[in-house]
Amino acid sequence: MKEKDPIVCTCNEIRQSEIEQTIREKGLKTIETVGNETTAGTVCGGCVDEIYLLLEKIHGKVEL
Ligand code: FES
Repeated sequence: MKEKDPIVCTCNEIRQSEIEQTIREKGLKTIETVGNETTAGTVCGGCVDEIYLLLEKIHGKVEL
């Protein structure tokens, strides 16, 4: 069964809900700003694709 609120960024243990909430609250539109605000994606970069999908889920298509 798929976890409800999976860890997106395993390096920094940042969960999906935390990233989505920060994107919504601060109106973030880029991977970079999500990294600045949550630290997700700032270590190995392996979760960047998933962060991108969350940005897309919230805003629709986003510029990279
Ligand atoms: S998994 Fe997010 S930076 Fe490594």
